[in-house]
Amino acid sequence: MSSFSIMATAKAVPEKIVTNDDLAQIMDTSDEWISRRTGIKERRIAVSETTTSLCAKVASQLLEKADVDANDIDFIIVGTMSSDYQTPSTASAVQGIIGAKNAIAFDINAACSGFVFGTYTLASLLNSKPNAKGIVIGGEQLSKLINWQDRTTAVLFGDGAGGMLVSNQGDGEILSTNLKNFGDKGEALLAGHMTGDEQFGETKDHTDHYFHMDGRGVFNFATKNVPVSIKEAAEDANIDLSDIKYFVLHQANARIIKSVARKVGVNADKFPININHYGNTAAASEPILLSEMVENGLITRGDIIALSGFGGGLTTGTIILRY
Ligand code: ACO
Repeated sequence: MSSFSIMATAKAVPEKIVTNDDLAQIMDTSDEWISRRTGIKERRIAVSETTTSLCAKVASQLLEKADVDANDIDFIIVGTMSSDYQTPSTASAVQGIIGAKNAIAFDINAACSGFVFGTYTLASLLNSKPNAKGIVIGGEQLSKLINWQDRTTAVLFGDGAGGMLVSNQGDGEILSTNLKNFGDKGEALLAGHMTGDEQFGETKDHTDHYFHMDGRGVFNFATKNVPVSIKEAAEDANIDLSDIKYFVLHQANARIIKSVARKVGVNADKFPININHYGNTAAASEPILLSEMVENGLITRGDIIALSGFGGGLTTGTIILRY
């Protein structure tokens, strides 16, 4: 396998902060309930930004930080479940905005596992071409899918984007990948339903864009399957869990993260949490956290880290890499 060297990480979040108290003004909820059950205190909501603008901002920062010319990018992958259009893809729009004329660009939808699935795909593509560079971004405007009348889902999600620029030259490498789909459990988390043509058939139910979720079911799925994914990935990498400096998990619920830490028998300090600031930003949550950790000097060259996500599909995914 060729190397997988992360040259830069970046994040972009909307300016508007919506606190739990703000939500308590418009629905029957409270800061106390949301904080205790999820760890979320506030989230960013896109008012003037879009999925595309957030992802393009990340891509521009990545080029600048890595000091790479847009013409030298070969691949752009965006993990998203909230693209602005069915077509063009967000990745294609980003390619146009940053002027990466030589890049092929496409989206991947694996919901909250989108960044891990996108990273796996980028690694495979980088393997196929000598001296190549690619960008993988997780970007979401989940507020488009929120029903603000439904307190069981509305308090959970937020908007944002994060990503990394990767080269297949250098010392970084992927040590193992463990990706799974559980398609038979897909109904536990639905969003963005689109119905067929009504002109030539029977009238269908009206399109329902909003999140519908079996919260307890997804909670149990995550706390059962994410630890398995992490343990299998460590075994495949032939390393001990204690060799992993940080576990960068999808930020869906602080209680899920703590439960996963307990189940794999690793101190919770190794499972950083920033959900308090952003809520669940699906595919964006891991690269936002990763970017903040790199910026704060918590992750440095040579560190082994695990990226681990779960979500709609249902899906799980873990990638262990040397930074
Ligand atoms: N404010 C106040 N009360 C609420 C709220 C709210 N926002 N939401 C629900 N409640 C009430 C319920 O009505 C229920 O009341 P009842 O006991 O009178 O019936 C009570 O709180 C408990 O509800 P539960 O759903 O049992 O609460 P739970 O502890 O399971 O927490 C939660 C709910 C936070 C959704 C949790 O189940 C969870 O985090 N699940 C995982 C969800 C997830 O990660 N989804 C994203 C997947 S990633 C992706 O692909 C997008």
